[in-house]
Amino acid sequence: MRTYLVTGGAGFIGSNYIHYMFKKYDNEIRIINVDALTYAGNLENLKDIENRENYTFVKADICDKEAISRIFAENDIDRVVHFAAESHVDRSIKNPEVFVKTNVLGTLVMLNAAKAAWGCRTEASRRARNSRATSQAAATTMDRFSSRRS
Ligand SMILES: NC(=O)c1ccc[n+]([C@@H]2O[C@H](COP(=O)([O-])OP(=O)(O)OC[C@H]3O[C@@H](n4cnc5c(N)ncnc54)[C@H](O)[C@@H]3O)[C@@H](O)[C@H]2O)c1
Repeated sequence: MRTYLVTGGAGFIGSNYIHYMFKKYDNEIRIINVDALTYAGNLENLKDIENRENYTFVKADICDKEAISRIFAENDIDRVVHFAAESHVDRSIKNPEVFVKTNVLGTLVMLNAAKAAWGCRTEASRRARNSRATSQAAATTMDRFSSRRS
């Protein structure tokens, strides 16, 4: 089962995406929705799916390195779909700092957390693949050897 980490899933695009994914894949996927529930986030958008066993909501800020790293450490995340953002243009004129913080630094936190988690996994899966290939090669050699002898 693939596990998706969706950020900003309580917002407009994120909640529609989550509905779309469950409609399309139903129980073939698991979705973890990470949202800080700012003025723009509304869990009412997800009321109809909140009790699904393959859905989890985590209230967290994407700028919070520890919280995001913990989510990666505790879940075997396969894909990240990143919608969490400050998105209203008039607010960006009044308060640009929060836009830079969430949209730039928050995105960097997500990228670094994924790199830290998947860097290790890539190395581990490369080793697992190599060891599988080695034992397969050994098994094949053994088979050939036994068929020549018989
Ligand atoms: N709405 C559109 O038509 C549209 C079109 C193209 C692209 N986009 C992009 O898609 C993304 C999402 O847009 P949207 O319209 O759904 O926005 P939205 O404002 O409706 O939702 C943003 C969500 O992110 C959450 N959030 C904000 N800051 C956060 C933080 N620091 N940590 C965790 N969660 C946080 C909010 O609580 C909210 O649920 C944005 O990057 C936007 O630019 C939107």
